[in-house]
Amino acid sequence: MLLRISIFILLFPFFLIPACKEKEAPKYVIGFSQCTGDDAWRRDMLRGMQRELAFHPEVDFLYRDAKGNSGKQVEQIKELLTSNINLLIVSPNEAEPITPVVEQAYQNGIPVVVVDRKTASSFYTAYVGGNNYEVGKTAGQYIGAYLHGKGKVVEITGLPTSSPSIERHKGFLDAIRNYPNIQVIRVIAGDWEKKIAKQKLTALFDSIKQADLVFAQNEVMALGTYEVWRERGISPRTKIVGIDGLAGPLGDIQMVHDGLIDATVLYPTGGEEAIRTAVQILEKKPFTKENILNTAVIDPTNVRMIKMQTDKILNQQEDIERQQKHNEEQLRVYNNQRILLYTISGLLVVAIVLGCLALYSLVENKKINKILKLKNRKIIQQRNKIQEMADEAQAATESKFKFFTNISHEFRTPLTLILGPIDSLLHGKSDHLMVKQSLRLIQKNASRLLWLVNQLMDFRKLESGMIQVKATENDLIAFMREVMQPFEPMAKKSNIEFKLITNLSVLPVWFDVNMMDKVFFNLLSNAFKFTKTHGRIHILIEQDAALNQVHVKVRDTGIGMTEMEVNRAFELFYQANQDSNKGTGLGLPLSKEFIQLHHGEITVKSEPHQGTTFTIQLLLGSQHFKEEEKISAVVGEEGQLSKLIVAETGPIWQDSSNNESKSESILVIEDHPDLRSFLQYTLQANYQVFTAGEGELGLTKAIEKVPDLIICDLMLPDMKGIKVVASLKADLRTSHIPIIILTALNGLEQQIEGMQVGAELYLTKPFSPQVLKESVKSLLANRRLVKDYFANGEVLSPANSPSISKLDQKFLNDFKRIIDEKLADPNLSVDFLSREIGLSRVQLYRKVKALLNGNVNDYIQTARLTKSCHLLQQTSASIADVAYQVGFSSSTYFATAFKAKYGISPTDYKMQKSYLKTV
Ligand code: FRU
Repeated sequence: MLLRISIFILLFPFFLIPACKEKEAPKYVIGFSQCTGDDAWRRDMLRGMQRELAFHPEVDFLYRDAKGNSGKQVEQIKELLTSNINLLIVSPNEAEPITPVVEQAYQNGIPVVVVDRKTASSFYTAYVGGNNYEVGKTAGQYIGAYLHGKGKVVEITGLPTSSPSIERHKGFLDAIRNYPNIQVIRVIAGDWEKKIAKQKLTALFDSIKQADLVFAQNEVMALGTYEVWRERGISPRTKIVGIDGLAGPLGDIQMVHDGLIDATVLYPTGGEEAIRTAVQILEKKPFTKENILNTAVIDPTNVRMIKMQTDKILNQQEDIERQQKHNEEQLRVYNNQRILLYTISGLLVVAIVLGCLALYSLVENKKINKILKLKNRKIIQQRNKIQEMADEAQAATESKFKFFTNISHEFRTPLTLILGPIDSLLHGKSDHLMVKQSLRLIQKNASRLLWLVNQLMDFRKLESGMIQVKATENDLIAFMREVMQPFEPMAKKSNIEFKLITNLSVLPVWFDVNMMDKVFFNLLSNAFKFTKTHGRIHILIEQDAALNQVHVKVRDTGIGMTEMEVNRAFELFYQANQDSNKGTGLGLPLSKEFIQLHHGEITVKSEPHQGTTFTIQLLLGSQHFKEEEKISAVVGEEGQLSKLIVAETGPIWQDSSNNESKSESILVIEDHPDLRSFLQYTLQANYQVFTAGEGELGLTKAIEKVPDLIICDLMLPDMKGIKVVASLKADLRTSHIPIIILTALNGLEQQIEGMQVGAELYLTKPFSPQVLKESVKSLLANRRLVKDYFANGEVLSPANSPSISKLDQKFLNDFKRIIDEKLADPNLSVDFLSREIGLSRVQLYRKVKALLNGNVNDYIQTARLTKSCHLLQQTSASIADVAYQVGFSSSTYFATAFKAKYGISPTDYKMQKSYLKTV
């Protein structure tokens, strides 16, 4: 729509142009049929018409010239009639042939103005022209008088069938009749044309040469007569009288003036009058039907005055025409300027309209933009909401996955501690105590599994609303002491201050014993899990009498939680401390549900590295429970399970045979106490076993003890196992130690990650103790092979150094290079080397032993002696010189050491080699 409007506006100025034209569409069309247009008289007639037409712009003028041919004139009139003319002006060539077509036009309602010559009918609207009879008569009267009533006259007529010719002839004869002595000796038809008249006069000349006067019916034939007499050289010529009285230098007035002819009778053309009459007819104004134009004789007596007047008229006419032309030119300029003005105005209008449109579009655009922006904002908001929902859904899905993964991992440790002891019982020699302890471990972990399964069941029941509080009235203080009791040994063992703080000795509270047992067992398990040795775990019980409430706080000095972890602590499937194995993530949400079933509240406050406090508010009395929620006695004893789970499994796993006598040592970094001691138990028969429950402690122990092998759990409370392995492998002091990663995670990615940081083996729980033992054995054997390989002095390069890290290769290269460079220095010692390499004496000793299976001093001694062999063999240096070059300050000691190693003295060795060389 807007496009259409724009196109219209752009074209608008062009519509204006035709509308601005000064000349209106012609109101009238006048057709003019001229019998002939070639002579001066007819041209004068046409000029007169055009001058008059200039005052009538409403008239369109169609002009046709029949060239003296009547047939052609009929055709032209017909053609004009079909051109929708409003009026016909006709000057018939001949009367008879033209009459029917003119009559037809007239009868068809087209007004007809006949000029000069007439038709043979009275069916015309008006006539304009001279009275030809009068003209002929005037000429005859003048000739009679001029010839003094006596003489011979020749008459040259026009076209005999044209009305002026007939009428003039008649008038002339009527006048001449009054002069009996004037004789018309010949009448010649000149057909109005000079050429024809001349031809005929010439042909008849002999018979007419005695004529006193020639009367020619028009000016051209009069001129022709003059020329015939002049050509004959006859003087004085015959007298000549003509008709027309045309002004101008070639007209017959001039001819009279110049004496070419004697007189002429005025026959006005009537062009202006014809147009004037036609316009009056068209405008339905009164008009004269017969418009007879005056006539007069022009001869030498008046020619000067008439010529002056006609010349003046001619000049005036020319002025008028010039003026008209000028006017037309002015009009054209004016019209052009008007068109320009209209165009500019039009363009201005267009510009204004376009401006308005642009403004309108701008305002509309702004509106649309505003709407679009709003829509866009809404869409973005919706998108963000969808994104948030998708993220939440994703997080929920991930949490669920994580939850199920954690649950299955959670099963793996107790399963290891069930399957492991069974495996050991089946394969090993077992005494009574060990069987008992193994069974206790199995029982404990089977209970743990049962506990986990129960938690899942509770969760299911809660979700389906199938769980119901079975509240009894209990002494909360006594109950709490009971709940705490199984944790006491653990607290004692870890030096944790574990106590109940309250000023109440008894506090009766209604609650579901089983549920509360689970709640507090969960809270205490968590507290113990995250509280390090020498920490504090306090339980505070306060009564708020005003609110009729009791507050139980479980406060620890453990690793604490971040703000985000606090906010999500009770969220189902969410698990803080994702990096380590902290359980299922079910405990706290379940506890919250249980507390809520009691119409109580559980909240948490925590600070990272400061500790965590869980506060439980319970209502006193029993009004808040429905009758069916209150029972008289507790059924079922699920509380027993918790006791079994936290129960100490006894000293069986303590090292009875773990002494320094074992040649190889293993460090176990595992946070689960039972698993840690089970691993210790599994390995201690063959190795010296060190243990660490946390990553940091593990690292410290590894650097301090430099064991032959490390077993590291992947989930540690303080740092990722992977990080521990990476640190060990990046540290020159421990980089050579083979590491077994032990984990509940069996994902391929974790395995690859483990291998990438340099761990030698990846064992997933539950694992068989036999498999572990065999793995340890083969790793250590493999390491021994490597040791031998290097101890034998192999050149060290990445290509031929199996099972050894780049760090260790660098260490060995540096170690050998320093020794080679400093071999001549008797002060080359373990101290010097440890300073150069950046290890303590013990670490250097352990590292060299692990990698080269020998001590540092032995290695230096061997290097010195090997080089001395080479020198003795290749050079002519003396024994003393050789001893000096390989760093022996005394040649005697060199000789002793050489003999001790090779069983031959250096002197003998040198002789033997030079002999072999000469041979
Ligand atoms: C011109 C003319 C005039 C004459 C008139 C008669 O064509 O011959 O000289 O007076 O026609 O119709």
